[in-house]
Amino acid sequence: MIQEKIIDLLNSMTLDEKIGQLIQITPQLYYDDTSSTAETGPIEKLGISEEHLYNIGSILNCGGAEKVKKVQDIFLSKNRLHIPLLFMADVINGFKTIFQIPLLQGCSWDLNLIQKCAEISAKEAAFSGIQVNFSPMVDLVRDSRWGRVLESTGGEDPYLGSIYAKTIVETYKSCGIASCVKHFAAYGASQSGRDYNTVDMSEREFREYYLPSYKSAIEANCDLVMTAFNILNGIPCSSNKYLMYDILRNELKFNGVVISDYSAIKETINHGYAKDSKDAALKSLNATVDIDMMSNVYYNNLKNLAFQDTNIEKLIDNAVLRVLTLKNNLGLFENPYGQLDIEKEKSYVMSSENLEIARKTTANTLVLLENKNNILPLNNNSKIALIGPYAENKGISGIWSTIFYKEIEKTITLKEGIEKKVNVDNLQIARGCHILKTSEFNNLLSSIGESCITIQNDDEMERQEFEKAINVAKNSDIIILAIGEHYKQSGEGGSRSTIELPDIQLNLLNELYKLGKPIVAVLFSGRPLAVKNFVDKVSALLWVGFPGIQGGNSIADVLFGDVNPCGKLNMSFPQSTGQCPIYYNHYSTGRPHTYNTRYASRFLDIPTYSYYPFGYGLSYSNFEYSNLVLSSDIITENSTIDLSINVKNNSNVPGYEVVQLYIQDLVGSVVRPVKELKGFKKVFFNAFEEKIISFSINNDMLKFYNHNLKFVSEAGDFKVFVGSNSRDNLWKVFSKID
Ligand code: BGC
Repeated sequence: MIQEKIIDLLNSMTLDEKIGQLIQITPQLYYDDTSSTAETGPIEKLGISEEHLYNIGSILNCGGAEKVKKVQDIFLSKNRLHIPLLFMADVINGFKTIFQIPLLQGCSWDLNLIQKCAEISAKEAAFSGIQVNFSPMVDLVRDSRWGRVLESTGGEDPYLGSIYAKTIVETYKSCGIASCVKHFAAYGASQSGRDYNTVDMSEREFREYYLPSYKSAIEANCDLVMTAFNILNGIPCSSNKYLMYDILRNELKFNGVVISDYSAIKETINHGYAKDSKDAALKSLNATVDIDMMSNVYYNNLKNLAFQDTNIEKLIDNAVLRVLTLKNNLGLFENPYGQLDIEKEKSYVMSSENLEIARKTTANTLVLLENKNNILPLNNNSKIALIGPYAENKGISGIWSTIFYKEIEKTITLKEGIEKKVNVDNLQIARGCHILKTSEFNNLLSSIGESCITIQNDDEMERQEFEKAINVAKNSDIIILAIGEHYKQSGEGGSRSTIELPDIQLNLLNELYKLGKPIVAVLFSGRPLAVKNFVDKVSALLWVGFPGIQGGNSIADVLFGDVNPCGKLNMSFPQSTGQCPIYYNHYSTGRPHTYNTRYASRFLDIPTYSYYPFGYGLSYSNFEYSNLVLSSDIITENSTIDLSINVKNNSNVPGYEVVQLYIQDLVGSVVRPVKELKGFKKVFFNAFEEKIISFSINNDMLKFYNHNLKFVSEAGDFKVFVGSNSRDNLWKVFSKID
């Protein structure tokens, strides 16, 4: 439809019809099937009357071609102007082909891989009726206590976050599905990692670290922006005019749809920013937040507000125009079902090709953290004891997978993956313990409002399971220990005050260690965990995040050497919980930890640096770096420096290496981080192959926000580092002159 017609349509709408476009609800009111709709926030009665139900603009988390078609048909049969519903959903790490969690996808440092995961997710969702995906989540994350770090592809780095954001948005667009970048803004910086908590930061910190990934998504023509739950510098994001209007619309020139997060407009009352529901509606509308997701604030108040002030109807019109334009851009006025296709849904969703890609992409993101004496890859003829609560556990897809993926039995467990690699007579299995003690699990369930399980003599059961595991281990050459946190312990509302391995699993590990057999630990979690208290007892440690429905196959591919691991961390692993937040691109203090005195900036009981740094990850190959050369040690505004470095695979195992380039501005008019990622290359090396890897350093890489918030580079000395991770690298100094 041409844009003029959209304006005609707007002019023909009643105020009620307009307000309806600004409301998003779940589909149950049209279609009585609660079983397959997930709630992602507090459930309350919205009190929408039958008369207004058929004015609503969009639907949350309804997927499945038949179901979406049914809801759309029921709706359109009663909507006066035949304005179709827009179906928006959270397809975070896959619709039904569930990939690894985004945090693990980001460990690929591979845009093709990110693109492939996004493409399959988008197409599966689109054929199943979804038109807008609430993704990418690009919040910068530094604090592992926050349960939602698992959703961030870029992890703690704005450069990685930005290029991933662009790739995902462009991929969705090429698949005809709209993207929604979230959560604007700085949601990942909540104090103490507690979800929905206060965020307070300087404008410079915001612009330098947190804003770039959202900006990159917007520059890639992202269609929607979702507000964040938190306050930012005293004002809730969902009614923050400076953030939404001045920065987002004026400065970043975003003219798409802004949607609140789940009930976040209403929550501005709890924040103490809006006096009541009417005030909340006014403030969010003024901030140009277009859609009220799952609260009745716009529904109950916009009409009266418009009667009192004619300017309000103008704001409403602007918001409605943006929503109608989005529907039009998606072609919904011509075809209200979008790409919904019952036949394609059947043939494409979870097709064997998609599952195979999930297997490959996941294997190529797993991060090998330890491999003492090259214990990995394993020999297929070893006698293996597979032990631990994740040995046969199907809950390995992360919390977001549960929205649309209901056939959990299709998930490949670690046991099923390993069975394909070895003679089953050589494989023995014992769980050893649950992820948590029953009482701890019940505490978790009751804290999230779920019913508890019955406790049956916990200690006795525990003793018997331990014993069985130890007997199994005694008969083996090697122990594969599948451990980690429960998937319900991460994700939204999944903050933890301690991020160590649960005690019951530590006890199991300690008992097994006494047998003196090598232990290969496979660690499942939605976040970097503090591994220091057990890592010296294991020979190998493979971090697998939540690897998705092909997880067992992908892990086995790596354990047995069919895939050479190449994942590199996008988020630092801390020494202990008390070290959080921790990130590699921090500033230096006036008293660095290297000071040999009490009065240094450090902890008394742990080192200041992370346990595994950003960019870290081992391989079965052995990469050696040498001969870092700069074409000049001077750079100007318009010149570049060519950098080259020799990288050699000093092993007979072919593999990928991510060669990383970091820069430090040694003295600035405001202090600069000790290191910042500015580029990388993921390169394949044959056995014993040596290559010269080159980069070009330009002036843009030296820019930062100065004390006047101007994005500039300054004359002075810089250090450039190249290496295999953010800690181990070669470096050279160069100078910028005016
Ligand atoms: C989450 C969003 C999500 C929304 C809709 C909220 O609770 O914060 O990330 O997109 O629910 O499900």
